[in-house]
Amino acid sequence: MFHGLTPAMLARMAELEAIDAADRTDGTPHGRRLRQIPPETGRYLAILAASAPAGQVVEVGTSAGYSALWLSLACRARGDGLTSIDRDPDKLALARQTLETTGTTDVVRLACGDALEILAGLDGVAFAFVDANRDVLPACLELLADRLVPGGLVAADNVISHAAEIPGVVEAFLADPRFDAVVVPIGSGVLTARRTRV
Ligand SMILES: C[S@@+](CC[C@H](N)C(=O)[O-])C[C@H]1O[C@@H](n2cnc3c(N)ncnc32)[C@H](O)[C@@H]1O
Repeated sequence: MFHGLTPAMLARMAELEAIDAADRTDGTPHGRRLRQIPPETGRYLAILAASAPAGQVVEVGTSAGYSALWLSLACRARGDGLTSIDRDPDKLALARQTLETTGTTDVVRLACGDALEILAGLDGVAFAFVDANRDVLPACLELLADRLVPGGLVAADNVISHAAEIPGVVEAFLADPRFDAVVVPIGSGVLTARRTRV
């Protein structure tokens, strides 16, 4: 998987990493920042997605397509595609550039709209990465609980870095019998869970 990273993918990843790093210090307004995962989280998510059972692979929060590039590696290994959701057309225009310059338009489908509306229309989800605004995290997790196949995996970013914005959410999830869950201290903290048969 990681050995299949092409020069074009590595170049676009480096470009997006540089923009993201600059965003964090140059006063770029919050809504225009890329707010990407770090590369180690990308590797972790790709391994999870590649290991998930058969079914759909979904991402909530595309931004410029950086995490989608990592997940595209898993989807190539699985022989299926990624649906990546974002409601910001400007971010999706950047993501489209990312896919076109890296030859990944055949693997990643961009879906423009509200995460909750689009997730509600999905079924048979094998892997989901949730990286949107914190206020929709509980509702995304609840929608996914009903849409994941048994053994399906869900990962949600920022649960350590932004714990104060989601009081009680992680605790409730860890206690939920529909999931076996753990907080993995990688990057900003990734809540990682496997759907049980309950
Ligand atoms: C943290 S960024 C995603 C970063 C991306 N996963 C990466 O690592 O490259 C969050 C994105 O979620 C989108 N977003 C936030 N709330 C959303 C919602 N309710 N529905 C759809 N997209 C949403 C924002 O427009 C933003 O582009």
